[in-house]
Parts: sequence; C-alpha cells; structure tokens
Amino acid sequence: MRKVTLLDIYEHPITQKYVRRSGMAHAISVANHAFHLAQEYNVNPDTAAKAGFLHDIGHYEWYSDGEWDYKDYREFDIHPIKGAERAHKLLVRLGENKRIAKEISHAVLFHTDSALPEGEFQLSPLQLVVHLADEKDKQPGDSHHYRYIDRQKELTRIKQLDKKIEKHMGSGPPSQMDNGPDSY
Ligand SMILES: [Fe+2]
Ligand SMILES: [Fe+2]
Repeated sequence: MRKVTLLDIYEHPITQKYVRRSGMAHAISVANHAFHLAQEYNVNPDTAAKAGFLHDIGHYEWYSDGEWDYKDYREFDIHPIKGAERAHKLLVRLGENKRIAKEISHAVLFHTDSALPEGEFQLSPLQLVVHLADEKDKQPGDSHHYRYIDRQKELTRIKQLDKKIEKHMGSGPPSQMDNGPDSY
C-alpha cells in the first residue's frame, strides 16, 4: 500500500500553486511517461510517476517588461534546485517514506543538465527516466508549459494513473517494488 498517492500530491495547495505555474498538463503527461519508462528501466513506477509529476515544481517566472525573458531564463534559472527542495518538503509533509522523498528530490534536481556537475556524470535509472519523460513531452518554444486541460480532466488523469500504479504494484515482482540503494 502506498503511503502517498498522486491524488494526495495533486490536491495539496503547494502543488496547486507551483506545479500549476509550470503547467499542470505537462506535469501529468511527464508523470505518465515516467510510469511507462519506469517499467523499461526497472525502476519503481510509483516513485517515477511522482518524480515526473513534481519535476518542474521549482519553476518561477522570468519576466522583464512584461515579456518572458528566455535569455535570462537560460542563463540564470535554477528551477531544478528550487524544485528539489520544494518536492522534498511537500512529500515529507504528506508522510512519504523519507528514502523515497530523497530519491524523488534528486531526480528533480537532475532532470535537466543545469544542476549537473561538469564532466561525466552518471544518472541513476530513476533520474534518467524522469529526464527522458520530460524530453518526451517537450514542445517547440517551451509551449508544453502552457498546454491546458480542464480541472476535471486533470483529476481524471491523476486518478487513472494512481489506479495503474496500484494495479502494477499489486502484480509486479517484489524486486520492482522496493527502493534499494542501487536506485540512486
Ligand atoms: Fe524543468
Ligand atoms: Fe518539464
């Protein structure tokens, strides 16, 4: 049994404020991609879906003179760092397992290369899954952040994904369920 569902995360005011700011439709799509990729990469699908859902929770707005300033954004943005901290705080508050909260926080931190150290850096399978899931949903001109679906559809898709995760966890081998140290 999962301690925290996607619905618990979705309904929290912090998620409604920050995930909505970066695009709820994008977050839900990335959660879905992460769930499916997790099975390919032998990663816990619940952890992957949660990390996918929260990956852009650190976004904020880069406006100058009323226009989005892409140059400043590209150069100065630290949304993976802000997001890692926000996601961690939210998950711990909701009662998530602390090891899983840490794994998700690291996956948020490394979902783009902006927070990666110079040189060779090996992503863990979970971190790779979240990165690939985000890439899958990206659209030209960053329009994926502005894609809109109504709230009823958001809720339906969140509940559907929760059901898929629960079904998978009920049927999968135990080795896919635990979060051993190799998932870092
Ligand atoms: Fe991002
Ligand atoms: Fe994203």
